[in-house]
Amino acid sequence: MGKVIAVASQKGGVGKTTTTVNIAASLGVLRQRTLVIDLDEQNAVSFGLGLSRQQMESGIYDVFMGRVKLRDIIHPTAIPTLKVIPYGKGTLTDEFEKFVRQKGSAPLLKRYVEAVRKSCDFILIDCPPGMGDLTIYALSAADSVLVPMQPEPLSLKTLTQILKIIRKVRRSVNPDLIMEGLLLTMYDENYRISREVAKQVWATFPEEVVFRNVIPRMEEFAASFAVGRPIILQDPESEVSQAYLRLAKELLKKAKAEQAEMANAASEN
Ligand SMILES: Nc1ncnc2c1ncn2[C@@H]1O[C@H](COP(=O)(O)OP(=O)(O)OP(=O)(O)O)[C@@H](O)[C@H]1O
Ligand SMILES: [Mg+2]
Repeated sequence: MGKVIAVASQKGGVGKTTTTVNIAASLGVLRQRTLVIDLDEQNAVSFGLGLSRQQMESGIYDVFMGRVKLRDIIHPTAIPTLKVIPYGKGTLTDEFEKFVRQKGSAPLLKRYVEAVRKSCDFILIDCPPGMGDLTIYALSAADSVLVPMQPEPLSLKTLTQILKIIRKVRRSVNPDLIMEGLLLTMYDENYRISREVAKQVWATFPEEVVFRNVIPRMEEFAASFAVGRPIILQDPESEVSQAYLRLAKELLKKAKAEQAEMANAASEN
């Protein structure tokens, strides 16, 4: 049974999409059957994983609207065990809102996720910036949430807000949602502020909530994104590729431990 991780943050531009692309690619390289769901209308994660414009013409948005079937929008990538569902081309409008409300969208996305969960080891959902409806749908369908953050002074404030939202989702639609972890991205140890915020984050939040693994800032990053090939394929030895690979291994280890725990609990009952 696959584990479903939503990559979300209230703040834009913190590395959600980059993190989704690179964790997914690393898990794929580790031969994990991985599916990425692009929940951002910019289709950035789909670009990053090399889908063509034509493949992005329809996606999960169109499934929500009842126009296509889920199985018809699951696309292969350059990594054999990694697949991606694009967002599609629709803009979230009042009409869409009304439509999903009528159909009960939170359960709808959850239903799609459950339909594919059995055939995956991991499902990653790339959320749009902010805590709008789409992000809430993702948090309702996920097992855990991974929150990337840039080591900046304001980040701590944002984090407190997102933790509050997670608690709210837990109390309402998804009591089992857990925090997968906070991930420091674009970390530059030459900057005093980067080092200080990281120190403060590690001091403020419990060890199991914040990844010790940080993602370094790498200027060439944007280029790999533009060609639609994850950096692990372009430049596997780079510091960033290795950092994401270590993180993917950490997630894999944790998921296996959780599965073993669940199997144990089931055999005791
Ligand atoms: N480790 C890194 N080093 C250098 N640049 C990075 C790194 N990670 C991400 N970036 C760059 O930072 C910018 C924002 O990253 P990304 O698009 O992943 O953020 P996001 O949180 O998904 O943004 P949005 O909220 O708009 O969806 C991009 O230009 C990306 O190439
Ligand atoms: Mg993004």
